[in-house]
Amino acid sequence: MKRRHLINLTSLAVLACGAAGANAQIVGSAHDFSNAGWADNQICKPCHTPHNAMTVDINGYGTDRLWNHALPAQSQVYNTNEGDLTRDDALDAKSILCMGCHDGTVALDSFGGVNGGTYIFGSALIGTNLTNDHPVGGAAVWNPTYEGSRYNPRLNWENQTFGDDRMGRLQDMLVDGNVESVISCVTCHEPHRRGGNDFLMRIDNTGSQMCLACHIK
Ligand code: HEC
Ligand code: HEC
Ligand code: HEC
Ligand code: HEC
Repeated sequence: MKRRHLINLTSLAVLACGAAGANAQIVGSAHDFSNAGWADNQICKPCHTPHNAMTVDINGYGTDRLWNHALPAQSQVYNTNEGDLTRDDALDAKSILCMGCHDGTVALDSFGGVNGGTYIFGSALIGTNLTNDHPVGGAAVWNPTYEGSRYNPRLNWENQTFGDDRMGRLQDMLVDGNVESVISCVTCHEPHRRGGNDFLMRIDNTGSQMCLACHIK
């Protein structure tokens, strides 16, 4: 009996060290708001809820993911390389989840149906002008033949292994009435720091290797 107990303690210690050592988790990351004062002392709650989650249709794609945080208004306009577009024409459904905090139009503590008053600031504030950001959504159609692109981004179509699945984190969205694969915030970022990379990157960007996974340069 006693021996079994010791073994269990050892394996627990190994697990704990592994998690802390890899730093591959949301705990302690920029998305751990549990000490922020506005997050109900919880990590997941500002973004997810186990019950009564939001169900919002975004041009046929749902919020899903048991989403709990308020979104930018559907009428919200973003400045993009393709012109000024309202929310659902500018952005794919996943990027809209991010913008519920990062465009600065919705309070961080607006979740669970409550209207908050604390807003994002500093370098984490992306804003509604996306012309000075890497293209996402309707301005970032993944087109291996380069057709339809404003310029030739020299995309690395041969290298189709990006992130944790085969370009699977491109998002579908309606662009000019057609379903297109587009670059999203979640193509480059993983909001829980899975992988343990700086800036919540989906893959390590040391030596700009993430950029090079897509761009032939
Ligand atoms: C800052 C917002 C945010 C926080 C905090 C957050 N998540 Fe998420 N979570 C997301 C987003 C956005 C997605 C969708 C990601 C995608 O589809 O690529 C997601 C997706 C998920 C998924 C679906 C599988 C996946 O990884 O895509 C699970 C499960 C999940 N989150 C669990 C959690 C748990 C548990 C916590 C707390 C420990 C948590 N999340 C905290 C934003 C967040
Ligand atoms: C609940 C609000 C909220 C949502 C939703 C949210 N974020 Fe954040 N995010 C923040 C805040 C607040 C910070 C800044 C934290 C700080 O400066 O301490 C941040 C920081 C970041 C950072 C900087 C990480 C670092 O290490 O400096 C990245 C990258 C990021 N968020 C990406 C995303 C992406 C991508 C999504 C959607 C998948 C998303 N966020 C959704 C609130 C949010
Ligand atoms: C093409 C890849 C890519 C896309 C798409 C992308 N990001 Fe980033 N983002 C990065 C990289 C790389 C960094 C780290 C920059 C650095 O090293 O200074 C970063 C940094 C950030 C930061 C931290 C800024 C800082 O200096 O504190 C935030 C916040 C962020 N991104 C949010 C977002 C949001 C929200 C979206 C979607 C609208 C998004 N990102 C889309 C690649 C991307
Ligand atoms: C997942 C693939 C992917 C990754 C990763 C990626 N890009 Fe891109 N990038 C694209 C696509 C797609 C476009 C243009 C889409 C269009 O115009 O239709 C683009 C456009 C650009 C442009 C032209 C933007 C403009 O407005 O003129 C630059 C510069 C660029 N990327 C730099 C980077 C850098 C730097 C990184 C790394 C931080 C990076 N990209 C990572 C896919 C990617």
